[in-house]
This record gives sequence, C-alpha cells and structure tokens, in this order.
Amino acid sequence: MDITNAPLEQALVRLSDGHMMPQLGFGVFKVDPGEAQALVADAIRAGYRAIDTAKAYDNEEGVGAGVRDSGVPAEEIFLTTKLWNEDQGYDKTLAAYDASARRLGLDTVNLYLMHWPHPQADLYVETWKAFVRLQEEGRVTSIGVSNFLPEHLERIIGETGVTPVLNQIELHPKFQQHALRAFHETHGILTESWSPLGQAQILKDDTIVGIADKHGKTPAQIVIRWHLDQGIITIPKASDRGHMVDNLAVGGFALDEADMAAIAALDDPNGKIGPDPKTF
Ligand SMILES: NC(=O)c1ccc[n+]([C@@H]2O[C@H](COP(=O)([O-])OP(=O)(O)OC[C@H]3O[C@@H](n4cnc5c(N)ncnc54)[C@H](OP(=O)(O)O)[C@@H]3O)[C@@H](O)[C@H]2O)c1
Repeated sequence: MDITNAPLEQALVRLSDGHMMPQLGFGVFKVDPGEAQALVADAIRAGYRAIDTAKAYDNEEGVGAGVRDSGVPAEEIFLTTKLWNEDQGYDKTLAAYDASARRLGLDTVNLYLMHWPHPQADLYVETWKAFVRLQEEGRVTSIGVSNFLPEHLERIIGETGVTPVLNQIELHPKFQQHALRAFHETHGILTESWSPLGQAQILKDDTIVGIADKHGKTPAQIVIRWHLDQGIITIPKASDRGHMVDNLAVGGFALDEADMAAIAALDDPNGKIGPDPKTF
C-alpha cells in the first residue's frame, strides 16, 4: 500500500496560548516499544502531523526515532507527551520532563500533559507550577492536562492563574462528556478525546454501521468525523496500516442532523471504558 498518497485531514486548531495544533493526530498507547519507530515513521509519511505518546507508554524512544526516520522535519511534527503519576511534585516533574525530552531526542516538546490528577497524592497543584515554569523557560511550548475533573481544573487555575490549553479525556459516542465539555468551554480549554473509537468497540454498533453504509464510509471514519465536527481534537490509534490511512480519509463528506441525533442517543451513563480520575 502506498501510504504517502493517503488523503489528508490537516485542520489546525488554535490553543489559548496562541499556538496551533493539528485537530487530528495519531495515538500510540499500547504500541510495543520495538514497533513504535516504524509505526510513527509510517504515520507521518501517511500524512499525520501530530503524535500522542506518554512516559507510561514506554515508547518515547521509538516515537522520537520514528519522527527522525519519517523524512519530515521535526519542526513540522506536533509532539505530545505526558508526565506519569509517580513523577508528580515540583522537582520530580522538572526532572521527568528532561528525561522524556532525552528519550524522545527532541529539543522541545509541543505539548506536555499531566497524565492524571492523581488526587490521592495531592501533588497536582505543585506539579502544575512546575509545568508553568517549563513553559516560561521555553522548554515546552504548550501545557495541558489529562483526565482532570472540574474540581481539579478549578484548583490549578485558582492557585496559579494559568489555565491548561486542553484537557485530554475519555470521549467517544458511548461516553460523550457533555458536562465536562461545557465546563471547558467556559474556561477556554479545548477538549481532546482519548479512546475516540471506544477502543474499536463502538465500530460494531448498529447505528454507527448504518450511518457508515449510508455515506459509503467506514465506521471509524464516521466516528472521527463526529469528533472533528464538534471541534474536538482527537488521536485515534492504529497499528494496522490500513486503519492508519482510513482514519485520515475523513474529508469530503458531512454528517447530517439525523446522523448527529442518532449518535447523540448512544451516550450511555455506563459507557466509560477507562479508570475513574477520582481514584486512579
Ligand atoms: N490520557 C489518557 O489517559 C489516555 C488513555 C488512553 C488512550 N490515550 C490516547 O488516546 C489514543 C487512542 O486511544 P486508544 O488507543 O485507547 O483507542 P482508540 O483509538 O479508540 O481505538 C484503537 C483501536 O481501534 C482499532 N482501529 C483503529 N482504526 C480502525 C479502523 N479504521 N477500523 C477498525 N478498527 C480500527 C485499532 O486497531 P489496530 O491497532 O489493530 O489498528 C485499536 O484496536 C491512545 O493511543 C493514546 O495516545 C490517552
């Protein structure tokens, strides 16, 4: 398959700090460290310009090597990584960031996220203060959080005056997060969805399959279009090259009102797949 000829979906969104970020990126959770290099290089050659990794994914070295192998200048790639829970705390955060940047082999990371609030440790406020320092010193371009609830966002904003550019949260048609998204909007925080395809479970849903058949698209393309049309930044993961290309080819069609209403009705109070941010 010639992945270099894949159709592109390259819309950019503006973060509250003025920097731009691709709305559609490529996630590498559960990508084996030995496979990350080739997979990321292929994803970039296919047209992705944003990669989402984390210290906890244990593949930062492969991701950085894949960026270098891709043939696309590193400055053209938007790279996100995340601070793991055990590294929370002011000094530990500064050291953990340096270690991530070293593993990635990059001078700067575009976006650094606090992976979870981990409220049991009660270190997320001082951790956020270290994030603010990393940004002030130009070591990281933009700073944000992941899996934060309103109570956690209110505390870091209240105690530092610095609002994260985005909150990366579990979000897919079975778990639509309307209340948290409304909170984000009132604070100028963008929403980024993780497990946007519901870890592939949602792709077998009859409603999604029906809409896909109607438009002559795949279920994954329908779900990704649904995220993008709502202004959500999203990072589907694919280790299969066919899926990788499929997930970029989401331009040239639109979901109609009936499609949007049918997908809205899939929201399920028990639709959450991942852990609870209050206790994880
Ligand atoms: N911040 C957090 O706490 C957090 C938590 C979880 C995930 N994330 C991020 O979000 C990213 C995405 O989430 P995720 O990896 O959990 O799940 P996901 O993107 O919702 O789903 C990935 C699954 O869907 C399959 N898939 C992808 N494209 C497909 C297509 N076109 N047709 C059929 N199947 C397709 C993949 O199969 P193949 O791999 O076989 O192609 C894989 O099994 C992660 O990689 C990570 O970067 C963040």
